[in-house]
Amino acid sequence: MKNKLIFATNNKNKLIEIRAILNNKMEICGLKEAGIEVEIPEPHDTLEENATEKSRFIYQLTQTDCFSEDTGLEVFALDGKPGVKSARYAGEECNDAANIAKLLKAMENTENRTAQFKTVMSLMMNGEEIQFTGICKGKIATSLKGENGFGYDPVFIPDGSHLHFAEMTMGEKNNFSHRKKATQLLINYLSEKIWPESK
Ligand code: IMP
Repeated sequence: MKNKLIFATNNKNKLIEIRAILNNKMEICGLKEAGIEVEIPEPHDTLEENATEKSRFIYQLTQTDCFSEDTGLEVFALDGKPGVKSARYAGEECNDAANIAKLLKAMENTENRTAQFKTVMSLMMNGEEIQFTGICKGKIATSLKGENGFGYDPVFIPDGSHLHFAEMTMGEKNNFSHRKKATQLLINYLSEKIWPESK
């Protein structure tokens, strides 16, 4: 039998990416499929605290093992901003295009374009939490390219590639991705410590 976990997210893109990374190793159920209709709060100043908040919230609600993740784009020249506020960088009601426009404006005269995506994943099993972190270093382009992916993908170029994330297929993005790295640590942990028979 395949092991099953709730992924505490309403983000369709994240669900698709995680499923592709897991490649059928376990069954992942998003909040909607689990019949849970909630907006999980992200009130904290760190990705770590927000990730914990999300997985604890869903664990307490369902008493079912689950994991969550919180991701931020950290730009060196902006002192780590937008960071934990990446989703709301251009304001509460903003969208990806507005966030990117604000970022490019803030970096208009900036030569140092170094940045990184950081994903913190929080696994809640039997009421105990463990976190995994994945980082993808790269730089912020001066203009948008590509139609794939989501969020800041059109302006992020990972180290080791000349392509923007949004120009890559999902498989190509996963060769570099912060979420892939954190998920791999989660898979390693589950298959060594919790579900050795599914290795
Ligand atoms: P959150 O983890 O849902 O709070 O996402 C934070 C922000 O980062 C949102 O604006 C997302 O669109 C963006 N984001 C998260 N992961 C990625 C990614 O893999 N590529 C580009 N943007 C991302």
